Amino acid sequence: APGAQQFIPPQADTIDELRAAAAGCQGCELYRDASQTVFGRGDESARVVFVGEQPGDMEDQKGLPFVGPAGRLLRKAVDDAGIDPGHIYLTNAVKHFRFELRGKRRIHQTPDRVHITACRPWLVAEFARLHPEIVVVLGATAAKALLGPTFRVTKQRGGLLPWPASAQRPEDFIRVPVDNAGKVADAPEARLLATIHPSAVLRADDQDTAYAGLVSDLTVAARALA
Ligand code: URA
Ligand code: SF4
Repeated sequence: APGAQQFIPPQADTIDELRAAAAGCQGCELYRDASQTVFGRGDESARVVFVGEQPGDMEDQKGLPFVGPAGRLLRKAVDDAGIDPGHIYLTNAVKHFRFELRGKRRIHQTPDRVHITACRPWLVAEFARLHPEIVVVLGATAAKALLGPTFRVTKQRGGLLPWPASAQRPEDFIRVPVDNAGKVADAPEARLLATIHPSAVLRADDQDTAYAGLVSDLTVAARALA
């Protein structure tokens, strides 16, 4: 697969320009069956940026991230943690919905590493244009995109992590926010916090406990902003 890089206009200064270009992305096969590209949205000067997995069924139909049940739960948790849900930026590691058809139902499929890798240039491009103080990594897929394959959310959640100081090649996992030219973006002081995905709360046997854990992790981010 060619990946998303060739679809990113080097002159795109803004998130809106990136979003417009991403509408035509064919960097992996996921564009074929999904309805549309679901790009990041929200406050571009947000102090907190959230990275999810991929759009769900509802997001695919509406063209906006986190507008379904997981998004509703996330916004509530963000609010309960003391972060203003009106001043966040939300995006996903993979910008097209991956699913399997079962009859008429579209069943979510976790993106593979090839999709994460193909789509990562969009995430890198977003980070080069955002200025977060905290990046919240939601679940294993986002962690793979941002922290590499060995990171374990369940073991390493809820702590503030630095962007490792060593600048990495853009083809590597993102260690620091870099722009299209591989230049380190001007948010090297951003810190990162990994937690569970809101969908994992919805799937949990004990939803109350899982939700409290999510809010507790997000409270660590909220305190770091204060
Ligand atoms: N889950 C995600 O990871 N992202 C969305 O946009 C919606 C659900
Ligand atoms: Fe492009 Fe990402 Fe969609 Fe693949 S998932 S077609 S790389 S936007």
